Amino acid sequence: MYESETMRYFSRELLDWYRVQKRDLPWRRSRDPYHIWVSEIMLQQTRVETVKPYYERFLSLFPTVGALAAAPEEQVLKAWEGLGYYSRARNLQSAAREVAERYGGRVPDRKDEFAALKGIGPYTAGAVMSIAFNRREPAVDGNVMRVFSRFFLIEEDIAKGATRAYMERLAYELIPEGEASDFNQALMELGALVCVPKSPNCLICPVMERCAGRLAGKEESLPLKTKAKPPRPEYRACALVMGEGELQGRVLLRQRPAAGLLASMWELPHVEFSEAGWPAAIADEPLGELLSERLAGDSGVAASPGGTLGVAEHTFSHIHWHMRVLRLTASGGGDLQPQAPYRWISAGELENHPLPNVFIRILRDAGFMQ
Ligand code: ADE
Repeated sequence: MYESETMRYFSRELLDWYRVQKRDLPWRRSRDPYHIWVSEIMLQQTRVETVKPYYERFLSLFPTVGALAAAPEEQVLKAWEGLGYYSRARNLQSAAREVAERYGGRVPDRKDEFAALKGIGPYTAGAVMSIAFNRREPAVDGNVMRVFSRFFLIEEDIAKGATRAYMERLAYELIPEGEASDFNQALMELGALVCVPKSPNCLICPVMERCAGRLAGKEESLPLKTKAKPPRPEYRACALVMGEGELQGRVLLRQRPAAGLLASMWELPHVEFSEAGWPAAIADEPLGELLSERLAGDSGVAASPGGTLGVAEHTFSHIHWHMRVLRLTASGGGDLQPQAPYRWISAGELENHPLPNVFIRILRDAGFMQ
């Protein structure tokens, strides 16, 4: 592949550096495969500092695979609330149920068995097998591909499967005998602290001297990656319906369908517009009336418009929501039980109703939630 002397240099220097410089992260205090698994799922698409408190709380709520398997899904989603990409939480729980049923609650230490569980891709399988069981398995994610592209001067598109496959072979070859756990974490650590995407910190890098990307002056332009498509825009007018009278202190929520984006989570009622219809919707004062009519038809709640609250934006994996938020009020009178999937919720009951971030922000801005 590359000169074996270069490969040995890379692995040795990196490991020595890691053993001195590694951060004290909560999941590094454990070798329990369930703990490592939870951390790796949370760390997908999410920063270490964000994950830390979620990791601690999640494991105090669900300390074992069995506890996670037995929990109501809503409680699991609630513990995930704010982390985003909620299918991660649902898949994690499905996989925990499978481990409980099929393996008596013990996380399998065979890669093929573990990789067959819901939500486990090649990266996660490799990370858990190596970190928890010290198995010689590559764990190649975007960070590792960046490090390899630079050090080995690999000018191939990292969005391509063939490039990933090549780098997985390289990662396998680089793992020093018996040191898969530390070596894979060292690679992640280098990508996170030193070999960062913009302005890499080459001067403190343990393998700078032989970094082919840097020697060629290409460290800033690597890795090569074709651009992903921009997220598709969607346009929504959203109703913050507050109760009055009998319904004082309650807000109207509805539950999303059990499948698809943000499945089973709770949200503020809203109406989708086409891109062509949106400018008119924004300019149009009768938007409140439209929301009110739609709400009466769908939920049976009679609410009157009370002005605009503002706009909200949110990007999900591949969709961007543009939202305009309007306030409405409803004064009860027999409407305590709206039609399903709508429900009047008090601030206290939000504890049992997982909400996507964008709605949490709206409820916080409106002073309904802390
Ligand atoms: N990113 C993904 N896995 C990680 C880990 N185990 N430690 C730090 N950052 C990570």
